[in-house]
Amino acid sequence: AVTVTVNPIALDFTAVPKSLADVVAVPAGYDVTVLYRLGDPLAAGVSAYANNGTDSNFAQRAGDHHDGMSYFGLAATGTAPSASNSTRGLLVMNHENITESYLHPNGPTGLSAGSVRPTAEVLKEMECHGVSVVEVTRGSAGWSYVQGSSLNRRITPFTPTSFSGPVAGNALLFTAFSPNGTAGRGTINNCANGMMPWMTYCTAEENWAGYFRRDADDNARRSAALGTKSVTAFNRYGLGIRIGNYNWTSAAAPAAGDTRIAKFNATVDASKAANGTGDYRNEPNQYGWIVEIDPFDPNSTPRKRTALGRMNHEGVCPGRMIAGVKPAFYMGDDAQGEYIYKFVSNTAWAAADATAANRLAVGDKYLDAGTLYVARFAADGSGQWLPLVFGQGVLTPTGYPTYAFADQADVLTHCRLAADAVGATRMDRPEWTAVNPATGEMYCTLTNNSSRRPTGANAVDAANPRAYVDTKVTGGSSTGNVNGHVIRLRETNDSTEATGFTWDVYAFGAEAGADAANINLSGLDATNDFSSPDGLWFSEPTNTAGQATPVMWIQTDDGAYTDVTNCMMLAAIPGRVGDGSTKSVTSTVQGASATVQARVGKAPGASLKRFLVGPKGCEITGITSSPDGTSLFVNIQHPGEGGDPQNITSNWPANQTGTAAAGVRPRSATIVIAKADGGIVGI
Ligand code: FEO
Ligand code: CA
Ligand code: CA
Ligand code: CA
Repeated sequence: AVTVTVNPIALDFTAVPKSLADVVAVPAGYDVTVLYRLGDPLAAGVSAYANNGTDSNFAQRAGDHHDGMSYFGLAATGTAPSASNSTRGLLVMNHENITESYLHPNGPTGLSAGSVRPTAEVLKEMECHGVSVVEVTRGSAGWSYVQGSSLNRRITPFTPTSFSGPVAGNALLFTAFSPNGTAGRGTINNCANGMMPWMTYCTAEENWAGYFRRDADDNARRSAALGTKSVTAFNRYGLGIRIGNYNWTSAAAPAAGDTRIAKFNATVDASKAANGTGDYRNEPNQYGWIVEIDPFDPNSTPRKRTALGRMNHEGVCPGRMIAGVKPAFYMGDDAQGEYIYKFVSNTAWAAADATAANRLAVGDKYLDAGTLYVARFAADGSGQWLPLVFGQGVLTPTGYPTYAFADQADVLTHCRLAADAVGATRMDRPEWTAVNPATGEMYCTLTNNSSRRPTGANAVDAANPRAYVDTKVTGGSSTGNVNGHVIRLRETNDSTEATGFTWDVYAFGAEAGADAANINLSGLDATNDFSSPDGLWFSEPTNTAGQATPVMWIQTDDGAYTDVTNCMMLAAIPGRVGDGSTKSVTSTVQGASATVQARVGKAPGASLKRFLVGPKGCEITGITSSPDGTSLFVNIQHPGEGGDPQNITSNWPANQTGTAAAGVRPRSATIVIAKADGGIVGI
């Protein structure tokens, strides 16, 4: 049995107003410092970032588009972990994507179809993706990062990786680089993250599909070589006929035999072996995984954990770890109408593993064997976890007309098709998952869904109950679930092993003035109204009575409310699943109408408050804390997005201190937020 307590405590700050200013704003009594920016040098001897498009060598600099992030405490000296050290640690963070317009002197060249990209531009853009590991220390002047630390590391799309779990060695992973399907190169579009209880970092490969090129006749070539199944699978994963993001594969190889660029062309070369060992027809199957990294060993090889399935992985959050109980890992697949998943290990948790020296071997133990489940939400507030196991139900060669599953490796590589087959609930873009450490309840941001409608193939349901039209947005109107919501579930018997749950919606995003009956269902007001929740994480500070008190942080990635405010972060002390009521909600779009019963959590009121508003054009994504709760690390992603060297639309972070910075290019960056009095952030 699990003890469930929520300690009574209140958020202790004055809500930050919505703002369009080009600065990070936090409550009175808090300070912001800028810690780690795009291009900052990691290795010794690397020059300071010029920030004019001439910089190179991003394998030894901070990448772009800072995203999911975790703090790992280090011992006072040396390279060993210390889970409690709040003055020296490693920040590990994702670099999801790039703002290519600011990475070259006059912006990128050769982006359009038929043009040729310069090789140096392409390699630079590739190296701006991936993951950073950077040592940070807190001194009398606050936090700084340590240039030249032996633990600093960049993982890029070129870093050697290995595959583990049921898909390792399967023909679906065969490439010219790895003819036996056990190795790969790098990771890309790393969105959110998960800190494993044994002190490793998991990074999630999200919008990887867009980087791949497929030429016009690849469907025919692919069908001939690999069967029509391969085309069905590629279509289901958004691997269309296209030149690929940034037209990368138009660039010439850096040297004969160098396939770092060519690997992004998945077009079948009919002159090569049908099984894919001679080209990169299977390279897209090497992406879409959760990748585990040991941040304390810069020479370790990241492991792609195939048992957790392949999708647009947003992130992964472990449930509570309880000795003798099999742990669960919760995941969202961020695309319209995709699913929420959990993986349950075959092995029950042993507390000694939290401090084991061979961290990736502990990962093998918990992440390579288990059951992947997908969620189905019922209108009555119950739900089921449906197992995705080859041979069970319709997951057989003949059980599902759309796709003939061959084995468990096929089910995991194509878990979207398996989830379709078993009848999972199609959600409004599942983004981050987070688990309340006090209750074990799992929260998931459903950021928005412009395809949700009252009726038809994307009809509203109890778990995704809103579709409406918002005409007051930047650049035109927005339709569907415009503002998103945060769903949550409580496992049966509060057990990570459960196959059933109850659920409700913690909060619906909305503008404060929106229709209270059908849109602003959670009664948001000027202090806490938000749109498009995305980043989601629980800190667990200790209150003045010595009680651990979870605070939930919600970060936004919004397009619909940006006519009024830049993206933001809110703090919450949430209640419990089922603390609210059922509301009858009517959706109306273009003459179609439908009414469903929404399950709305208790109105958050003052237990949800806006804590931060970011600079122009940014998304707020990525958050972690020092173990003592006095320093909160937050990532500001793509400030000034949409601008270019001729039209610089943000000068952040150069202007954060109030310094005049006109003409300075914006940079994604990590900030640190601390209370001026040194206290715990938020409470
Ligand atoms: Fe990278 Fe779904 O956000
Ligand atoms: Ca996200
Ligand atoms: Ca998003
Ligand atoms: Ca983003």
